[in-house]
Amino acid sequence: MENTVNMAQKVFYIKTFGCQMNERDSEIMAQTLSSFGYIESMNYQEADLVIVNTCSIRAKAEQKVLSLLGYLRKAKKNKPSMKICVAGCVAQQEGARIIERMPHVDLVLGTQQIYNLEKHLQRVDLEGSIVITDLHDKYQIPQFLPEISSLGRTSENNQPSPSSRPCSRFVTIMQGCNNYCTYCVVPYTRGREVSRRIADIVDEVKILVAEGVREITLLGQNVNSYGKTNAVGEPEVPITFTDLLKVVSRIEGVTRLRFTTSNPKDLTDELMCSFRDIANLCPQFHLPVQSGSDRVLAKMNRKYTISEYLQKVDTLHEYCPEIALTTDVIVGFPGEDDEDFEETMTLLEKVRFHGSFSFKYSDRSGTRASAFLDKVDEGVKVARLRRFQGRQDEISLERNREYIGTVKEVMIEECAPNGLRGRTDTNHIVHLNDCSVKSVPGEIIATKILRAGQHSLQGEIYKKD
Ligand code: SAH
Ligand code: SF4
Ligand code: F3S
Repeated sequence: MENTVNMAQKVFYIKTFGCQMNERDSEIMAQTLSSFGYIESMNYQEADLVIVNTCSIRAKAEQKVLSLLGYLRKAKKNKPSMKICVAGCVAQQEGARIIERMPHVDLVLGTQQIYNLEKHLQRVDLEGSIVITDLHDKYQIPQFLPEISSLGRTSENNQPSPSSRPCSRFVTIMQGCNNYCTYCVVPYTRGREVSRRIADIVDEVKILVAEGVREITLLGQNVNSYGKTNAVGEPEVPITFTDLLKVVSRIEGVTRLRFTTSNPKDLTDELMCSFRDIANLCPQFHLPVQSGSDRVLAKMNRKYTISEYLQKVDTLHEYCPEIALTTDVIVGFPGEDDEDFEETMTLLEKVRFHGSFSFKYSDRSGTRASAFLDKVDEGVKVARLRRFQGRQDEISLERNREYIGTVKEVMIEECAPNGLRGRTDTNHIVHLNDCSVKSVPGEIIATKILRAGQHSLQGEIYKKD
């Protein structure tokens, strides 16, 4: 208790890079710090503790972290009592090298250590700089009960993320990845797959709905493997991801359920049926394909072919005709030639994804692909990315226009003076520009879609004739 009094005035600032796992981890660290007296600030210059929660998925993500740490060196000169913590995937991968290069960093916190933040900060006070990056195969995700933070966060690109929407929250169900796609650092930065106890997941969801949350997104790097590995403390009965979805979908108050991310190789018929059978599972699915070429997919170690992927897409449409599919694509993977890339373009035409995230292949140290010799020229990568993104933008607009004239249930997320913003179950953002309409986040409003842009829809309240 004494600590609480001593630390009552301390201020922290968290900058989050990377994926939703990191966003959720930042919320956990923020809640931990608040519980022992810290208050959050949006200004790093005044903070006693700055946490940089990092991502190393591509070189660009890592460079952003390094430049922020450069600014922090100056901020610490002005405020020498400032403590700087580097958490997340760069911390896990780089470990002690971070402090060697940047002695102004006080704590390097690995990805399995965020729940012990308080203990490690106390050690920093006593011992000076420390590096804690142990990764355990039998890691057990600790029980951690949520509290709604009053500060809404936005993701790195300032898009509203579930954590910044009062009616929507992420719930981590597993950590790590065993797939070893040849380009990817995640198995090294997050360790082996571990599933969180189902009872802890259910408790967390129940608390969230009691606080007014209506939409839950279950999170993991590879959710389809839930229950296969280290469901520590669970009964001997295997629990599949589909079982978990059913359990969470039945919790009273969960109006909308989503999940991310899935590897197509583990997508079972049972899981695809869930889009037909679970009423509150939203008709939206992020299914990263990475490439349209079987040759490239094999080199990526993805373990599926394009015909298997397309078969699954067909089955999903059969079970759930309104499903909106999105994907991830890497262009310029080592050895990708013009023909391989054309196959990616052909796939885009066949599936007509509602949206996609596409990236130039980026060499990551420690991955198998970084040792491949047939790297693609940077100029070729840039041209391929531009072409893919250009066509995807056109398709997204065409897809969005298909909604014009339809009536959609829109869950309201933000009530601003100039109108309301919400989301369809298919995960499309909708603006209702009628200032006279009053609403609250979480309310569902039947909306007639009037216009469509590339990234959002516009509509008005639907009035029955
Ligand atoms: N677990 C998720 C992926 C998480 S990483 C999944 O398997 O779907 C998010 C995306 O980053 C990946 O889908 C991939 O498209 C991209 N990515 C990962 N490593 C990359 C690299 N070395 N270069 C470029 N893009 C990469
Ligand atoms: Fe990375 Fe592949 Fe695992 Fe996704 S499935 S996190 S891309 S190794
Ligand atoms: Fe980045 Fe780590 Fe997520 S590398 S994408 S923050 S798992």
